[in-house]
Amino acid sequence: MHSTTSDPFEQRFHAAAQRHERAWVFISVAMIAVLFIAAVYLVVHDYGVVAKTARIYADPNTPATLADFQGSGVKQTGPNSYSVYEMGRIWSWTPGTATPLTLPAGAHVTFYVTSGDVLHGFEIQGTSINLTAIPGVVGHVSYTFDKPGTYYIICNEYCGAGHQAMIGKIIITGRAKA
Ligand code: CUA
Repeated sequence: MHSTTSDPFEQRFHAAAQRHERAWVFISVAMIAVLFIAAVYLVVHDYGVVAKTARIYADPNTPATLADFQGSGVKQTGPNSYSVYEMGRIWSWTPGTATPLTLPAGAHVTFYVTSGDVLHGFEIQGTSINLTAIPGVVGHVSYTFDKPGTYYIICNEYCGAGHQAMIGKIIITGRAKA
């Protein structure tokens, strides 16, 4: 708004007020933009682990017959990287429930997750890993275990009478890298 007064002090006052107002409008819009971008970034990088479907099979029983899901289910793919083939069944994770999955600190792990019967939820507590185990679908997600300790795989999708006991264990051994 232009000042209609001829008083020089009032004119200077209005000019100064307008400069400050413009600056503060710019600062608040910039803050909203920065917070919005930061929120999107955080969601995508920390919470937005998107499970990519590796494969969908016409027969839901196929994944259980694949060689990768037999035996220990653990394959070393590099100096400290592994592929883990996780089979969920009522009410256990293989590997994890009968035998804990033991890996060294710093291990970069790609989990291939499927189900041999009904829907299960594959969640590793304390990490961002959370995907649904679906019969006939092998989903995968990667994670690096920097901190040694015990991690629990919990089923977070109701799957029957033993759902709450469907727990697996991942033991990360050794020291964390500095
Ligand atoms: Cu498996 Cu709940």
